[in-house]
Amino acid sequence: MKGGISGTSDFYFKNSKSSSGNLTEIGTKSYLGLKMAINTQQHSTKQQNPHEKQKTLLIGKGGNDVSYFIEKEAVLDKSIKYWNPGKTIQWQKDGVDLVMGKREGYTFFDLDGKQLMDVHLNGGTYNLGHRNPEIISTLTEAMKDFDIGNHHFPSLVRAQLAEALNKATPDSLKYSILSSGGGEAIDVALKCARYATKRTKIISIENGYHGHTGLAVSVGNERYSKLFLSNGNEKDFVQVPFNDLEAMEQALSKEDAACVIIETIPATYGFPLPEEGYLAAVKKLCEKYGSLYIADEVQTGLMRTGEMWGIDVYGVKPDILVTSKGLSGGIYPIAATVVSEQAGKWMMEDGFAHISTFGGAELGCIVAMKVLEITQRDEVKQNVRFVSSYIREGLEKIKSENADFFVGIRQLGVVMGLEFNHPEGAKFVMQSLYENGVWAIYSMLNPRILQFKPGLLCDKAYCDELLNRVEASVKSASAACKITN
Ligand SMILES: Cc1ncc(COP(=O)(O)O)c(C=O)c1O
Repeated sequence: MKGGISGTSDFYFKNSKSSSGNLTEIGTKSYLGLKMAINTQQHSTKQQNPHEKQKTLLIGKGGNDVSYFIEKEAVLDKSIKYWNPGKTIQWQKDGVDLVMGKREGYTFFDLDGKQLMDVHLNGGTYNLGHRNPEIISTLTEAMKDFDIGNHHFPSLVRAQLAEALNKATPDSLKYSILSSGGGEAIDVALKCARYATKRTKIISIENGYHGHTGLAVSVGNERYSKLFLSNGNEKDFVQVPFNDLEAMEQALSKEDAACVIIETIPATYGFPLPEEGYLAAVKKLCEKYGSLYIADEVQTGLMRTGEMWGIDVYGVKPDILVTSKGLSGGIYPIAATVVSEQAGKWMMEDGFAHISTFGGAELGCIVAMKVLEITQRDEVKQNVRFVSSYIREGLEKIKSENADFFVGIRQLGVVMGLEFNHPEGAKFVMQSLYENGVWAIYSMLNPRILQFKPGLLCDKAYCDELLNRVEASVKSASAACKITN
């Protein structure tokens, strides 16, 4: 696996205006639903209008030097017209006019050719890098024999993945219920807890984030539920502050809660770290009051903390563990709710009670097994240790040089939140990083904190280049913040 930015050299990007400018459109080709001009420089006759903005991506190179181009502006126009106007326009306002183009390893390109080092990784989806060659070849091989499969029947690869997940998770867990995304898997977890306890109340953490599906959206921040009149009723959805054991005990002690659901390190809230003993104490309280403990490991799982699961670091054996994002290898969507015997008992009563056509798609299962295998290799664990400590060292230096602005580093393994001394400091840093060729995103529920999430397989050269770019970006963001203050 090419972890460093050198891994992108195979890709060929260009801005057609800066080339010969003599491109001939010889037809159109549909790619991902977009009409692209197919151009050839060999037979070019048409003169480009020099005033026309022609930022394009060379998607592929066929025989006879035929290349396929997409204009970025066309993508943005279509996105506003047909996809999501609010989101597209907001990113433009935030100075991030990104449309993802080619990608590999921990780097991707904007359609206009701008190179970006990826330390967002979609929350860990690209934990093993973009288009990891081992994952790609596993999927390619699998496509010779498999498809999504039929979700009603037992399947060779679903059974194998369930066994692999059983072995890879704490011994408190037994069955795997497979889904196609994190929110769906969280909904399954909450349903299992309600079944097992015959209680409906769910306790979650203020500013937690568990996705946007039916139950998941109701246990998260109301920013995402209110708009859709989906906050959930106050009796069934109770929230307490993170790291507040007293509040947790108060909520649990009524002995009417099905479960507590907690992200091991709340990502969208900016990675506040659990205080020593907090998560283990919450688990104990759950046992005391007859509630289940659900560990949302969608972002903290799969070796990102230096252990297979974040909860392993904190010595918690949950009743239910949810994993997604990285389990897909960034290639085939899949998620799993791994449950204890008790939480999975409904399957004995009515195994058809929860159904998902794409949940546990067979191609996804094969990819997920490969992800689990790569993730658990000794050398990968060692590399996570290297990346965590090497980047920490570099960040500490940058922090000391910008002590009035860069005020904190929240870190467990390659899960990192960088704290800035300005209410929107991380937004400034995000913009500045973007200008300097790094993609990292601020925490939506705490814009002081930048989510900084390097991958498991980064090499030293990549880390060095990343730190150089961060150093320059923090300096200029600090200056920009001072101007706007
Ligand atoms: C901690 C956590 N849980 C659940 C989810 C929901 O996953 P999905 O977006 O795949 O539904 C996310 C997504 O970002 C997440 O970060």
